[in-house]
Amino acid sequence: MSTEEDGLSDFDERLLQGLFARVWRHLDDSKDSTSKVTQAKTTEEMKNQLDLAVTRQGVDVEMILNDIDTYLSESVNTSHPHFMNPLWGGTNIPAFAGEILAALTNTSMYTFEIAPIATIIENEMITTMSKLVGFDAGEGIFTTGGSNGNLMGLLCARDRKFPAAQQEGLQGKQLIAFVSEDAHYSMAMAANVIGIGMNNLISIQTDEHGRMIPELLEESIAAEKRAGNLPFCVVATAGTTVRGAIDPLNELAEICQSEYLWLHVDAAWGGATLLSPKTRHLLSGIEKADSVCWDPHKMMGMPLICSVFLAKDMGTLNKLSTHTNNAHYLLLDENKNNDLGRKSLQCGRRVDALKLWLAWRAKGDSGWANLIERYFSLANTLASKVEEQPLLQLVVEPSLTNVCIRYSGNNIREETQDEVTKKIRAQLISTGRFMISLSTIQNRPVIRAVIANPRVNEQVIEELVSQIALVGSSIVYSR
Ligand SMILES: Cc1ncc(COP(=O)(O)O)c(C=O)c1O
Repeated sequence: MSTEEDGLSDFDERLLQGLFARVWRHLDDSKDSTSKVTQAKTTEEMKNQLDLAVTRQGVDVEMILNDIDTYLSESVNTSHPHFMNPLWGGTNIPAFAGEILAALTNTSMYTFEIAPIATIIENEMITTMSKLVGFDAGEGIFTTGGSNGNLMGLLCARDRKFPAAQQEGLQGKQLIAFVSEDAHYSMAMAANVIGIGMNNLISIQTDEHGRMIPELLEESIAAEKRAGNLPFCVVATAGTTVRGAIDPLNELAEICQSEYLWLHVDAAWGGATLLSPKTRHLLSGIEKADSVCWDPHKMMGMPLICSVFLAKDMGTLNKLSTHTNNAHYLLLDENKNNDLGRKSLQCGRRVDALKLWLAWRAKGDSGWANLIERYFSLANTLASKVEEQPLLQLVVEPSLTNVCIRYSGNNIREETQDEVTKKIRAQLISTGRFMISLSTIQNRPVIRAVIANPRVNEQVIEELVSQIALVGSSIVYSR
């Protein structure tokens, strides 16, 4: 049994020694590309593997180490070279060290008093990232993810248009926000949560690359105004989830300026392109936004969660967080200028800046630039290999490092292509060969492979393309 009150017990020492031995082993094993990336078991199979019951007396250390072994072997290996499913992957060791340190020193980011050095580090990271965005006099805060960053962006916009909303609610006002039809679903969540309603989030059509069409935005704003509604915000996406498209930020900024609309940029995925002098032009215009969210837990490979919300103007976050004036037991007047709790929607908050800071210290700006450039180059290689493979179709030219692929086959109908494309992905996962995701572009399924894992290399890409083609052909011939 473990006890916290006596310091390190024999149980604790044996557990920690056992744990760290397993950490080494896991990190070493996870690079083996011949192993399975996922066990792909059913819930029942998984449950049979693990003694889930929590008991009255607790169990001994060997049982806990056994549980840890099962957890490790049954988890998806997100550092495996064939893990290309979500917009992240791999293990950044300095950041991993930061995670351990954050758990070891277990604190909460609400006050300087309880998190002094962590507050200084968070401020430093916010300044560094704000400068990269081009917000020279801005401010920001680490959040629970891009979804929350998008919520904060919409909230700032609502409050600027209708400052009474924080106290009085919307009072029947018909506030309207605009996003591209390819925007992340967190925008619908944000519209729901801030009380404007999801029907008042207008989706603007995208062009063939997946970018919002500015002329259609202008028409939609005019139509809403004619109807007596109140447009208040445009959300541009800098790196859409499926295609990686970047909305035309300069043009959207111009529209927002002339219509006096808040411009929030969802750069959860694409923000990392600001780290390389070769790719930062892709986000030209982001400096004209009023707010931005950016997830270092995506392309930068930080362990989840690591995400920032940045505002162009100092004071924005205090205005957003007037609810904190009620926290007389936590946020004291004399510490007003130092407590990050006054800028956040959360109360208890993890120390997420520490891992990013350690990773940045270790990598340096040039290390980030190299990583991002390498990902772009690998995505281009993957796109070319798909184009060279006659059985496959590159569905859209990559804007970032998302590569969308369809099995086009040899003289087969669209319906069959779609069915085979879905089956290829299912088979690659069920055999544990590759983890890639299934998405939809213009109502047709595509396999989306993402380059955001440092272990992906040219050999992995060759293998992925040949596996997709091979598995696809075998599905077609077995029909
Ligand atoms: C474009 C975009 N915005 C926002 C999000 C949400 O980010 P998070 O998972 O950090 O909440 C995602 C997630 O994939 C995304 O792709």
